[in-house]
Amino acid sequence: MVSTPDTNVRSPRHFWQWFRVWGRSPGMWAFALNRLAGIGLVFYLFLHLYVLHLLAEGPQAYEQFLALVRSPVFILGELLVVVGVLYHGLNGIRVALNGFGVAVPAQKALLLGVVGLVLIGGLVFALRMFAA
Ligand code: HEM
Repeated sequence: MVSTPDTNVRSPRHFWQWFRVWGRSPGMWAFALNRLAGIGLVFYLFLHLYVLHLLAEGPQAYEQFLALVRSPVFILGELLVVVGVLYHGLNGIRVALNGFGVAVPAQKALLLGVVGLVLIGGLVFALRMFAA
């Protein structure tokens, strides 16, 4: 008997296909960015919990940490978190609406709106964070 290949079994080679966005549709870019932002936020959640545990180690440990977060590299990282939250949240609402069949023909226009809001929000936060 000749066995046919099981097309449901995903090869590890295909694992990164979602990340190959070059030359693909804007929807694919939106999806890959949403996934990157989502994974980034999960990492940030753990970092956040680690930082909070420093509070339990006493004021000195926390003061040392505060000196570190005032560095420009850390502020840039915080800005990345803000931009990630804005994009993931707003795009998530767009995806959820489309999932419910709402505003499906306007999905590209909505994506443009999301990107515009993220850029404006990111700029406002950047100005405030680096000026502080
Ligand atoms: C503002 C609140 C949020 C909204 C509206 C939202 C919405 C969504 C939606 C609709 C999806 C599915 C996307 C798709 O099927 O294409 C999704 C995926 C995901 N979200 Fe969120 N989310 C929010 C907050 C968060 C937070 C705080 C985290 C992390 C701590 C997170 C992590 C993820 C991850 C890891 C995925 C899976 C990405 C993927 O596999 O494509 N989300 N989110």
